[in-house]
Amino acid sequence: MKGRGKAPGKVIVTGEHAVVYGHRAVAMAIDRHTEVELTPRDGPTSIVEAPIDDARLQRCVALLLPPDGLAVRIRSTLPIGRGLGSSASLSVALVRALASYEGRDARYDECFEKAFVAERHFHGTPSGIDHATVASGGALVFDPKGPSFERLPLGDTRLVAIDSGTAGDTKVLVAGVRARMSELRSVIDDIGAVSEAVIARLLAGGTLFDAAPELRENQRLLSALGVSTERIDALVAWALARGAAAAKLSGAGGGGIVIAVHEDPEALVANALGAGHPAFVAASAA
Ligand code: MEV
Repeated sequence: MKGRGKAPGKVIVTGEHAVVYGHRAVAMAIDRHTEVELTPRDGPTSIVEAPIDDARLQRCVALLLPPDGLAVRIRSTLPIGRGLGSSASLSVALVRALASYEGRDARYDECFEKAFVAERHFHGTPSGIDHATVASGGALVFDPKGPSFERLPLGDTRLVAIDSGTAGDTKVLVAGVRARMSELRSVIDDIGAVSEAVIARLLAGGTLFDAAPELRENQRLLSALGVSTERIDALVAWALARGAAAAKLSGAGGGGIVIAVHEDPEALVANALGAGHPAFVAASAA
């Protein structure tokens, strides 16, 4: 008897942080995945294989699986703690694996509701965009007021993800913005307005190249919000100087990855690796 579940990672294209305050945002599932395999075992449920030894994995398993009877194998091609939705991806993969173990499929609503329990545990007051994207796949406009989403016709979009080399802590970053909300409200609303402009372009059939001016402005506003870092700013400038139409942090910031929109993603990745910046092509995933 076995249960298997798989879920992608995600990038936020525009609107991170503002989405926590009711603004719509755009996100896309990417072709890096978490896979979970469940088999029966005597005694308490426990992780027997994992890409990293981290108490958060145990916590996620404790929140989403029965306390006894399962051996859990976790495999991942998704960089962890880089704003790529690794916790949401693990949560949804666990929900799917348990459903498969029980001989059924987990539908979107079940994945969304159960993964939200873990996301709240890890991230405090998340908007839900990470696990909505991971559970639905593809590209979407997320409306936190529903919460609901609308699919975006972004086709086979290929972004470049450049790793800043450090992890950002989503819970700490979201709480930090909240603590300064009285002075940051106008920046949050400006990010919301930029996201609406991106959404209008994309729903009209435009590409991320058409939305490049707004994406660059989004990065400027994220810096004003205090969630960018010197390293991220330097990587953004580096990518723009090498022909990227736009580059910005993606996710909570404070580290993590920079996403770049470039005509030749492979060439930019090769250039980044040559310059000592870990990077990969992040393609949209179903
Ligand atoms: C994290 O990927 C996106 C944030 O907006 C947090 C959230 O929406 O829950 C920073």
